[in-house]
Amino acid sequence: MCGIIGIIGKEPATPRLIEALKRLEYRGYDSAGVATLVDGHIERRRAAGKIVNLEKEIIDAPLAGNTGIGHTRWATHGAPTERNAHPHATARVAVVHNGIIENFRTLREELISQGYVFDSETDTEVITQLISHYLDKGETPREAVIKALARVRGAFAIACLFTGKEDLMIGARQGSPLVVGLGDGEIFLGSDAIAVAPFTNRIIYLEEGDLVEFSAKTYNIYDKDRKEIFRPVAIVSASAAAVEKGNYRHFMQKEIHEEPDAAARTIGHYLDPLDEKVSLPNCGINFAEIDQILIVGCGTAYLSGRVAEYWFEQLSGISCETDIASEFRYRRPVVAGRAAAIFISQSGETADTLEALRLCKKNGWKTLGVVNVATSSIAREADAVLETLAGPEIGVASTKAFVAQLSALAATAIAAGVAKGTIDAEREKDLARQLMETPRLIREALEMENAIEETANDISHAKSILYIGRGVSYPIALEAALKLKEISYIHAEGYAAGELKHGPIALIDEYTPVIAVAPYDELMEKTISNVQEIAARGGPITLLSDAKGIEEAADAVKHSVRAPECEPFQAPFVYSPLIHMLAYHVAVAKGTDVDQPRNLAKSVTVE
Ligand code: F6R
Repeated sequence: MCGIIGIIGKEPATPRLIEALKRLEYRGYDSAGVATLVDGHIERRRAAGKIVNLEKEIIDAPLAGNTGIGHTRWATHGAPTERNAHPHATARVAVVHNGIIENFRTLREELISQGYVFDSETDTEVITQLISHYLDKGETPREAVIKALARVRGAFAIACLFTGKEDLMIGARQGSPLVVGLGDGEIFLGSDAIAVAPFTNRIIYLEEGDLVEFSAKTYNIYDKDRKEIFRPVAIVSASAAAVEKGNYRHFMQKEIHEEPDAAARTIGHYLDPLDEKVSLPNCGINFAEIDQILIVGCGTAYLSGRVAEYWFEQLSGISCETDIASEFRYRRPVVAGRAAAIFISQSGETADTLEALRLCKKNGWKTLGVVNVATSSIAREADAVLETLAGPEIGVASTKAFVAQLSALAATAIAAGVAKGTIDAEREKDLARQLMETPRLIREALEMENAIEETANDISHAKSILYIGRGVSYPIALEAALKLKEISYIHAEGYAAGELKHGPIALIDEYTPVIAVAPYDELMEKTISNVQEIAARGGPITLLSDAKGIEEAADAVKHSVRAPECEPFQAPFVYSPLIHMLAYHVAVAKGTDVDQPRNLAKSVTVE
């Protein structure tokens, strides 16, 4: 995923382009660039690496002009070099692009055979050259863009700047998000509302297939059939556009500390605190009529689904299966009876999850999106949506969004149980009360940050770390391992504790820390046996448990971190902040780039 920005403004564009790119940097950060019109000519500055490198470039060679476009890249086609950095330009047009052009090879060969000379290895450049080609033929900029886009296959959001046209910009989207920001005598284009937030709070969310042509004061939007169309203007709240670290060292740390609020807001949305009942507005699924639930997502979103799978089966008795979107969409899933499919995504734009959703709709299965971005593609395309109210998540590693996903899914699982009649009114009240307590329990868990930091410093030298858990703590162990490897670059795996002796125990030695996620529950004794097996082989163990659990296993463990006591239903909420903080502090101890780990992007809008 990349970030794009476009401005026709009343003041110099470059500082504002840079400001917007910094807000978009979470989407990709391996190279960046800007282009403006200077006396009608396209001028560019580009740099490999993060936006600071581009800023240095601009200090050395300032860039004037009030009209400009900018891009921060997550490389797909072509290495993250200056040459491959956007904007890509010809003498006539400059383009920034987020997405992938699937048929770029054919188009590139065709254009080269016609004498067009390519400057980069990117798929994007075919858009630039195609637009140029149609401009060469005498088309207007709008017609040239329309004709070029009609030839490309794939996903894109683009912004185009034209030589000699200071008061013109064209944007278009298909498969990647794009918003128009309406200022006072100036108009902006951006990948999301966060990008244009410093300039305006009046936003138009373009729909799939839309094209926008604008000047500083006017704009026209055309739908996928190129008919002029009205799109409503939304006022974006300051909090939705806030991307400040506050007093925290990293966004990730701030966002972990926002987990109690993310849970409270989301749970508050789906529970009636007075009646102690769940109430799912717009859920759109009658679980009484459902025989099978499919849950689909990628990465951390998939793992929140793995937790929910236990809840759905235990609370409602409905068979539930969770899959990774990139596998699900190609494996021709078979369902027995009437199915509902739940798609979990923080961004709501993850390409594989979106395609899996489209596949289920084609099969006639009811679809429910659990998304953090209410205006996203998944939110728009699902039959019904449950919003997770985590607020904007900027750290590339997902934390508070995971907890918000758990919150919405827990409420949905209770609702499914009520609908199926497997939960009576008393049990519903009890579970609702338990859910309402979770923000407090998460807050208590966060108080263990010092103990977590101590353990983190100790294990930060390891080459490989194993996490184990049973029941709902197994997917939490998977999430713990994912989070650790993505931000600390330490190899980590999560295992079902009972599975260890079927192979992975061979990895245990004094240099391989094992973290046991083990709340004191009906499975604790069995987990303690596994802990003893590891200790007997010299493995240094950190136990994440409550006071009772720690007492039982004290002799076998090197470190223990005391979690607040909780009910089994609450445990995933309580242990999430602990494993998130552990990954965070290991990464800090190792000095990695916590908020923008190497090779990653916040959301993956390519397959
Ligand atoms: C891990 C992480 C990723 C995302 C995954 C799905 O910390 O952030 O694994 O969870 O890329 O993204 P969304 O939720 O936007 O669909």
